[in-house]
Amino acid sequence: MNDFHRGRRLRTSPQLRSMVRQTSPLMRENLIMPYFVVAGNPSLRKEIPSMPGQYQLGLDTLTEHIAAAVDRGLVSCILFGIPEHKDEQASGAWAEDGIVQKAVRRIKRRWPELQIITDVCLCEYMSHGHCGILTTEGRILNDETLPLLAQTALSQAKAGADMVAPSDMMDGRVAAIRAALDAAGLHNTPIMSYAVKYASAFYGPFRDAAQSAPACGDRKSYQMDPGNAREALLEAKADLDEGADALIVKPAGPYSDILRTVCDAVCVPVCAYQVSGEYAMIRAAGLNGWIDERAVIMESLLGLKRAGAQMIITYFTETLLGDGLVR
Ligand code: PBG
Repeated sequence: MNDFHRGRRLRTSPQLRSMVRQTSPLMRENLIMPYFVVAGNPSLRKEIPSMPGQYQLGLDTLTEHIAAAVDRGLVSCILFGIPEHKDEQASGAWAEDGIVQKAVRRIKRRWPELQIITDVCLCEYMSHGHCGILTTEGRILNDETLPLLAQTALSQAKAGADMVAPSDMMDGRVAAIRAALDAAGLHNTPIMSYAVKYASAFYGPFRDAAQSAPACGDRKSYQMDPGNAREALLEAKADLDEGADALIVKPAGPYSDILRTVCDAVCVPVCAYQVSGEYAMIRAAGLNGWIDERAVIMESLLGLKRAGAQMIITYFTETLLGDGLVR
């Protein structure tokens, strides 16, 4: 008889460890691959310098990437668009023949089962790079931005998107989008809102990829303050009240406390977004041989699942499918 706990007893063999494992391994159904699709040259394939292994893709090269990924079991992707011209009404975001709308139509025609999520935001399409309408004094107009967001989501859904994901962080956008979708008879298009999105330095590489860095100021007047935990519940509740069907917490790893809190508090599916900076750090260390990259990827994603996420948006999705690391 010992007077201490023998935690090692249940760790003696791989069989025993897998019998008592409390979080199931990642499945491909849990993973969502982000793609950056660029208007203009359809055969563009330009590596993003701060995200080695990730590319800005033209319509044709995007289709090639997706074909390879679907062969390996890709279930879902999220699309971000980069237009040819940016302006102050973000017209490329809601144009019928916008780059994302075109990509959705093309992909859906070829792979009807592939779940396509579209990011609903204006920053990639605004000449100033902010997520809403900007005044000459540098303020972001909330309510005036809502119709543009609603129109963007509607045009994406009409093009065939299976789910729309607003990431702009304007107040009231979920209600505005729901109303626009319902008015068009699209009652069954779900909204997965980036309800809990922090003003994070981890988005740096994405802004290179999407060419969406704000030309002046920052996003702190609309994205959440990293010091706030309880506010996450307020944001989650507000979006659910407005009609969100699923929620995103972002970034993921550095905010897994928030992920856990939100997952415990809500009854809808929660998605964690492992963002560009998290990808870049793991990739850079991997390329330098400083970590076992595959093992670190799996551990980082398992951590998000353990924290309660049902879905994970990660730039590692294609890699994991290619290596057969997920079932
Ligand atoms: C658009 C948007 C951003 C990300 C997803 N949607 C950038 C931002 O808010 O600046 C970041 C994703 C990533 O870093 O991987 N607003």
